[in-house]
Amino acid sequence: MDDRPIGVFDSGLGGLTVIKELMAQLPNEDVVYFGDTARLPYGTRSRETIVKYSIQCIRFLMRKNVKAVVIACNTASSMAIQAVKEAFDIPVIGVIEPGAEAAARVTRNNKVGIIGTQATVASGAYPTLIKKINPDIETYGVACSLFVPIVEEGWSDTEIAYLTACRYLNDLKSLGVDTIILGCTHYPLLANTISKVVGPGVTLVNPAVDAVRQVKEMLIERNMLREGGGPGHYRYYLSDFSQRFKQIGSNFLNTDIEYAEKVDIENY
Ligand code: DGL
Repeated sequence: MDDRPIGVFDSGLGGLTVIKELMAQLPNEDVVYFGDTARLPYGTRSRETIVKYSIQCIRFLMRKNVKAVVIACNTASSMAIQAVKEAFDIPVIGVIEPGAEAAARVTRNNKVGIIGTQATVASGAYPTLIKKINPDIETYGVACSLFVPIVEEGWSDTEIAYLTACRYLNDLKSLGVDTIILGCTHYPLLANTISKVVGPGVTLVNPAVDAVRQVKEMLIERNMLREGGGPGHYRYYLSDFSQRFKQIGSNFLNTDIEYAEKVDIENY
């Protein structure tokens, strides 16, 4: 048994899609969340910078005495997972492998779309893993750079979001994919809009679901579940204060994020 919290980081509020899964699948665990709101977006940055940021985020979480880290951010997972696994000796779980496994499992016509930031799509991390699982699966990547600011602006269910999604996704639709990986933490907040564009026949894979399943299996296997009874506590930290984080986050999680503390992440 291990009563220390689980650490989660993301470039902003998108990682709350992982928090939602932790609340559902591991409701008794304490969680420390760090959103690097001062340095968002990660998706347009170089590998070197993303590795540096990821290491700083994990150093901060380790100061909070976490027992494991979930890299909620797809961009950081695709660019930095190897480097951070080598740099730290606590379990670090990214979202790419779980997302790739889920997509390979659910596709029926072996045509999978991958949408994400420029960095995630350019990294080729999802196609590489999917091909390893099943070389017959064809993958098609589309960088949807405007989705993150739309979500951060609170415009997920607006006409602007719909028209933007049409522009990005119509080609994927014509290619006949039956599965799309929501390869960015922010995109599950756009799931309704994306579904309206691609239609109900296309399965949207949220990698957070399988990532948290993997965390749960790992904690059980290593006998590291929290022993203390009652629901887990959630603490939120941001590198820049953001009113939107609380508003959109509270809305999305259906629970009040009352307090988020500001952290100077450059000190880590
Ligand atoms: N959270 C990031 C991801 O999952 C996207 C946002 C950003 O560009 O920082 O890829």
